[in-house]
Amino acid sequence: MVMERIMRPGLEGVVAAETRLSSVNGQLGELIIGGYPLEEIAGNATFEQMIFLLWNDRLPEESEKDEFEQAVATKRNIPQITIELLKEAAKNQLDVMDALRMAADTLSLVADSDNESAAQTMIAAFPTIIAAYWRLLSDDEPIPPKVELSHAANYLYMLSGEEPSAAHVRALETYLNTVVDHGFNASTFAARTIISTNSDMVSAVVGAIGALKGNLHGGAPGPALDMVFEIGKIENAEPHIRAKLERGERLMGFGHRVYKVRDPRADMLNTAAKQFFIGGEQAELYQLVRDVEQVALRLLAEYKPERKLQTNVEFYTALILHGIGLPTDLFTPTFAIGRVGGWTAHALEHERNHDRIIRPLAQYIGETNRRWDES
Ligand code: ACO
Repeated sequence: MVMERIMRPGLEGVVAAETRLSSVNGQLGELIIGGYPLEEIAGNATFEQMIFLLWNDRLPEESEKDEFEQAVATKRNIPQITIELLKEAAKNQLDVMDALRMAADTLSLVADSDNESAAQTMIAAFPTIIAAYWRLLSDDEPIPPKVELSHAANYLYMLSGEEPSAAHVRALETYLNTVVDHGFNASTFAARTIISTNSDMVSAVVGAIGALKGNLHGGAPGPALDMVFEIGKIENAEPHIRAKLERGERLMGFGHRVYKVRDPRADMLNTAAKQFFIGGEQAELYQLVRDVEQVALRLLAEYKPERKLQTNVEFYTALILHGIGLPTDLFTPTFAIGRVGGWTAHALEHERNHDRIIRPLAQYIGETNRRWDES
């Protein structure tokens, strides 16, 4: 069979695998995760249930749920050498995502050769690494994990030393579930490409962290909220955003490769954020975010009318994570705590399906006739 060679910059529109994990319908703005519409599952499941669903294509029975929670919770401790590495990173004030990537690599010291067990280690250790590093950055001692707390509650506990309220835990779980998987996004594709070579789970996850970090992917929510803070008052929104677009800058939290209508995850997180802000001390911030979004959408339609640029998940990620008290520098790392569920699920799916190595082509556009003695 002769294969037709078509070049698609950015692999746009290319289908490279079958998956049962999530379905992204960019025209209708629909997201299905593990068979459930996002709106059904995100606000109801615990994060542990969500991971079980992705790995097993069904929700766990009660006894399986307890067993799975225990199995993951007992893998939360990280090696002492990982803490030492984080201390060095903190001395150099490295970005949290860089510290996470470096520390995740050291989990080869404790990860099992069985990929499912290694996936549990990666999921369990992410919050411990991030919380420990965050405290080390301010010269505070890391707080050891508490095995009896849920995954989300334990993360918030390790950051502050205080057990969080049920409302904070629910909001964080809704967020983690909302971002857990999303088709062949760049970081998931990176993870699946790595595992497709018969590499290991730690390598797949470490590669994916690198892909998530960039501000065209997971690095957008911090800058999105910064923009709202810089704007400060709604009357400043139009001149501020117009100036950005005139300079050719992108508005973080808007636009998406697949969604040409509103990202359904933005609505999910808006609903969850609303519960925090309305009637609370920061209700004005919630309203400002809503108003800034309207101005941004109007100006994007004016400057890029043919592009159909809409609000993406990152805009409301910023709001909800700020609402539960996380600093901007932890937005992308917290995204990683959720998305590692999807990376590992894709890696396991690829392995179980015995899928082929991912190996596209490149169109060569260089010289073909250079001579050694002329160089
Ligand atoms: N603000 C202003 N202009 C934009 C934006 C934006 N947010 N997004 C796209 N555009 C413009 C581009 O400048 C380009 O315009 P041009 O053709 O006149 O040069 C056009 O729209 C198409 O842009 P592409 O880069 O080809 O779109 P692509 O599908 O490759 O990119 C992406 C999608 C990376 C998300 C883009 O919309 C973007 O940069 N958004 C801002 C960053 C962001 O919010 N990232 C988070 C995405 S969600 C996630 O990964 C979890």
